[in-house]
Amino acid sequence: TAAPAAEPFDVSAIVKNHRVHGSVYTSPEIFQRELDTIFRTGWVYVAHESEVAEEGDYLTRRIGRDPVVVAHGRDGVIRVLLNRCSHRANRLCNAESGNATSFRCPYHGWTFSNDGSLTAVPMRDGYGEEFQKVRATLGMSEAPRVDSYGGFIFASLAAEGISLKEHLGGATKAIDRVLDLSPTGKIDLNHGWMKHLHHANWKMVVENNVDGYHALFTHASVYDAIRPAKVSHVPSKVEVVVRDIGGGHSEIDYSAEYRKLDEEFVWYGRIPRTKLPEYVEALEATHGVEKAHDALVIGPSHTLIWPNLFLAEMNVMYVEPIAPDETIAYTAAVIVPGQDKLNERTMRRSEGAMGPAGFLIADDGEIGMRNQAGLAARDPEWLELSRGLETDIEDETGIVNSDKSAETPQRGFYRQWASVVGQEVSA
Ligand code: FES
Ligand code: FE
Repeated sequence: TAAPAAEPFDVSAIVKNHRVHGSVYTSPEIFQRELDTIFRTGWVYVAHESEVAEEGDYLTRRIGRDPVVVAHGRDGVIRVLLNRCSHRANRLCNAESGNATSFRCPYHGWTFSNDGSLTAVPMRDGYGEEFQKVRATLGMSEAPRVDSYGGFIFASLAAEGISLKEHLGGATKAIDRVLDLSPTGKIDLNHGWMKHLHHANWKMVVENNVDGYHALFTHASVYDAIRPAKVSHVPSKVEVVVRDIGGGHSEIDYSAEYRKLDEEFVWYGRIPRTKLPEYVEALEATHGVEKAHDALVIGPSHTLIWPNLFLAEMNVMYVEPIAPDETIAYTAAVIVPGQDKLNERTMRRSEGAMGPAGFLIADDGEIGMRNQAGLAARDPEWLELSRGLETDIEDETGIVNSDKSAETPQRGFYRQWASVVGQEVSA
């Protein structure tokens, strides 16, 4: 398997009693341990099917720090191949995306088909019998497990483990909620990603997405700027809840009561339905009037899908950990096929919040960097995640609901983290 041997690891020394030790964000050993356990063993989001829709389409990504090519082979199969030449380990494919039947290594020209097999070796006469014996084994390594849900492609570098369905558990609802908003039942994420380099640990970047506590402080200037004009219909008491869905997945969501107040609008985009009659009609044609109405009222969620995918209303973010204090976050707007007017609004909103000059992501990036600076300032100490323990309520499905500013999502995240990072890793 991909995971190397690791020493037994005592997580109770760094995660206990709703506290997390600061070293989980700074230690190179813990970072490596995360790559071996979380990213080389479990399911990790890698791409969306709309990005590799045609045969020959490919794109380059990372699973943890392992570079991969997601390639739609000429046999119709979408594979996740290690982006590494089997000759001397050169990075094989250096474009972000494209369409090709094969990949030729820039170093000595070995060529691999987009199904991963080695198809050509230049100046063959330099190779003899010894080479012929191993040649068939020299294809690109392939992630042994690739599966998708609602077009979201996940891969696992381990040959065995729980299925993607088990991994996603209740988090599939978050994907369903987005797909329900598309008259075709499909979405597109194939129009490019906005990339941000965060000078922060990857966990800080993903946890922050389900931290309901920071918004009024970190983003105070944004709310001041938009409140009077743009969201004046929003009731004074916006009811927000946080949920620990289990398995490390969690979300921030508006309460059912709040959504009822929003019935004349297209989800939280706060676009009056009357402004998008074709879209509403198309959705009704697919779902029927009642279900279309429900889909619009319920709208999309803000859900962190363990470990690296985040759905935020009609935005998607995923992260790649680069170093203990460096993370790349990719964001894109969810495009609903055939709904240009809607998409234009979604894109503008997405750029405003998550784009290169977006308000929210700029604030969060700055906060993440300062956090990392604080952690580096002295020996890390224990960090406190007990907020809202008293408001946690477990419902009949096992989901823990709490008040909007509770650190319930983070507690769920670190429960999962401890169980994954603390597991035995075989050689
Ligand atoms: Fe790829 Fe030599 S490293 S051909
Ligand atoms: Fe934020």
